[in-house]
Amino acid sequence: MSQTAHPFDLVIRNARVATASDTFDADIGIAGGRILQLGSGLASGAREIDAAGRVVTPGGVDAHCHLDQPMAPPVRMADDFDSGTRSAACGGTTTVIPFAAQEKGQSLRAAVADYHQRAEGKAHVDYAFHLIVSDPTPQVLDEELPALIREGYTSFKIYMTYDDLKLDDGQILDVLAVAREHGAMAMIHAENADCIEWLTKRLEAAGRTAPRFHAQARPMLVEREATHRAIALSELVDVPILIVHVSGKEAVEQIRWARAHGLRVFAETCPQYLFLTTEDLGIDDSYHGARCVCSPPPRDRSNQEVIWNGLNDGLFTVFSSDHAPFRYDAPEGKKPGGEEVAFRHIPNGIPGLETRLPLLYSEGVLAGRMSLNRFVELTSTNPAKAYGLHPRKGTIAVGSDADLVVWDERERVLRNADLHHDVDYTPYEGRMLRAWPGLTLARGEVVWDGREFHARAGRGQFLRCDAPSLLPRRA
Ligand code: URP
Ligand code: ZN
Ligand code: ZN
Repeated sequence: MSQTAHPFDLVIRNARVATASDTFDADIGIAGGRILQLGSGLASGAREIDAAGRVVTPGGVDAHCHLDQPMAPPVRMADDFDSGTRSAACGGTTTVIPFAAQEKGQSLRAAVADYHQRAEGKAHVDYAFHLIVSDPTPQVLDEELPALIREGYTSFKIYMTYDDLKLDDGQILDVLAVAREHGAMAMIHAENADCIEWLTKRLEAAGRTAPRFHAQARPMLVEREATHRAIALSELVDVPILIVHVSGKEAVEQIRWARAHGLRVFAETCPQYLFLTTEDLGIDDSYHGARCVCSPPPRDRSNQEVIWNGLNDGLFTVFSSDHAPFRYDAPEGKKPGGEEVAFRHIPNGIPGLETRLPLLYSEGVLAGRMSLNRFVELTSTNPAKAYGLHPRKGTIAVGSDADLVVWDERERVLRNADLHHDVDYTPYEGRMLRAWPGLTLARGEVVWDGREFHARAGRGQFLRCDAPSLLPRRA
């Protein structure tokens, strides 16, 4: 029997292709996991998918998510690389960048080696690592960090809060100086640790320990002050920074001020600052609000508007999930040991890898609040550029990986029971969505078909990152 030779492994026909800059009709010809050709009337594929009338975007790049990150016992994360990347794929995200976190006293190399072991054989989609630098010893600053940057770990996160992670200003300056010299992207968690501790102690002394008081311990001014200080430190070193999970007006104002003064300050925000408010932490002392305890906390509706405006006018570069997965019921998430604990002890973070794209596509693009191209830019292209993965990731172009989402624009109610993470809740339960990925392709493989998940643990590849293309070129 004669066999027909197909020029493509897969052709997606009649797609309404959206990139960060253009929207156009085309067939997408895929071979060897990459996009080989874009055009009309392409030759045949071994497999063909008709996308007539459907929008096709690049797969999402979630540049801020936490998977299987070591926690202080007994707390532990609900998602590892298996469940986390499964959930990502079913929500249209085809690249994740979680964090290899250094514990104080640990070498950065050991943290990276440990994190590779955690990922090994488990990931369903491609992944890179950011580093978390919590102990900037001379060995880390002079040897490990420069070497790791050269090896493809070109971004790291610095914390201004959390006892086990925070750096003081002098340490931050030291780490920023390494970012400048070696061309890395420094991400900063900006909240003033001393103010939070002082407020927390006063709340505790007054018996105010329910989850809702988490928001009172972290008011906007503690974020504003730290954002201001982070900007000043980056100005002193003369290096760009990216402020992560910006929650509202006062931090946004600091970043606008920096930009107006010619400083290269990038910013990220997340779904919780568009779709949740402080009230989701509770209006009374019930423990239910522990589900939405994250830092910075969600603010109010007027701050949500500020965030929408910043997404549309270019203030924000990146829209990430900050997926930090803890089960509501034990083991050992929001109720360590099954106990309702004081807000100080509630693990910070909420799940969101799978819902990040559908929420913004529904409430942004289809609700008329955001252009389709801006959606692609914020959720895929810019994160790929910010962390040295573009143009392999983050776009639909000849030569790029065939990481694609074919959108299914139908209403559905968001239910945790339909999600694929290992968390026992979603903060967005019951929300009406206007769309969901009908197909997710990762390097040309259908990993999600709108109903079933098809990938194999271990198919996801580790990605070494180049120098971030948003940074100035080093000589
Ligand atoms: O509450 C949060 N955001 N938890 C995750 C860790 C972090 O600071 O991003
Ligand atoms: Zn953070
Ligand atoms: Zn985070």
